[in-house]
Amino acid sequence: MQEKLTAIVAGVQESAPKLQTRAEFEAYKATISGPKGALTDVMKGMGKVPKEDKPAMGKLINEAKTAVQAAFDRVVERIEAAELAAKLGPAIDPSLPAPDSTRGTLHPIAQVREEMVALFRRIGFSVAEATEVETEHYCFDALNIPSDHPARDMQDSYYLPDDLRVNNVSKLGDEKYLLRTHTSTVQIRTMLESKPPIRIVAPGRCFRRDTPDATHSANFHQIEGLYVDKDVTLLDLKATLDHFVKTIFGPKAKTRLRPSFFPFTEPSFEMDFFSPDLGKLSNKWIEIMGCGMVDPEVFKAVGIDPEVYTGYAFGMGIERIAMILQNVDDIRYYYQNDVRFLKQFA
Ligand code: DAH
Repeated sequence: MQEKLTAIVAGVQESAPKLQTRAEFEAYKATISGPKGALTDVMKGMGKVPKEDKPAMGKLINEAKTAVQAAFDRVVERIEAAELAAKLGPAIDPSLPAPDSTRGTLHPIAQVREEMVALFRRIGFSVAEATEVETEHYCFDALNIPSDHPARDMQDSYYLPDDLRVNNVSKLGDEKYLLRTHTSTVQIRTMLESKPPIRIVAPGRCFRRDTPDATHSANFHQIEGLYVDKDVTLLDLKATLDHFVKTIFGPKAKTRLRPSFFPFTEPSFEMDFFSPDLGKLSNKWIEIMGCGMVDPEVFKAVGIDPEVYTGYAFGMGIERIAMILQNVDDIRYYYQNDVRFLKQFA
């Protein structure tokens, strides 16, 4: 019996490495551990082994079974690896040009952002940035937004935990951090860092607690504009906005400033535009931004003398402009990353 077992194990160890396919393996395995297999046969002989020899024989059989199983496991592992390699095909050379020649493009919102930024750059604006995490001071107080303003409510903004520390976002006191609700924060950060003349646009992401629907998203984008110098007047603002609207929506587009209120500008306006060739939106006034002359309180908050300097500011949602230009009627399309949608703007 013992010799038989040794022979079986030796046979398996010699034959197993030569098995190439699953079928070969299954057929071979049957000759060893199948119902009529050699190892099964030896096990059947246990009945005839004298009682006192049984424990020793049982031990030998178990050792043989373990050795055979180990050899079989190696075969399965090897065959599976070979099957996978066959499925994957030849190794890829990453230095070769991509077989798929379609290249990605900028996201439609980024395309409109770039177009707007390029326009303002051509007329002397540079691009300023600040963080998306802000403090209440820079998001509200410095912009003359009173403490009872609804934007400051927990329900309207995303506040961050009190014990959070963000090293690259300076705090004035122990005010809370929140996700910026508008890009007007960049006005403050820029005026604190640089002296007039200042002429910047600040494109960026903003956050407000909103229930998503066709025109609202909790996460959206704005472009802020700020021009501070001696003798900046409302005429400069109007001329800049006229130029912006005509460049973006075509030379026949007109602008209108409608009196409004923002805590950080005085006077404040909503700017509407009107275009005769805008499809469904033709020939009606469409509101696209808030603007005005920088409020003296804001200048005081950043240490600029309002007796010497004046300035204008404006802010608008990029999605709103994109939806008009790209004929998109639901803002949610921009965030779903459905290639069928995105491809239309490639
Ligand atoms: N920050 C305002 C908002 O999010 C938009 C705005 C209005 C920005 C007037 C301005 C401005 O710079 O002058 O609703």
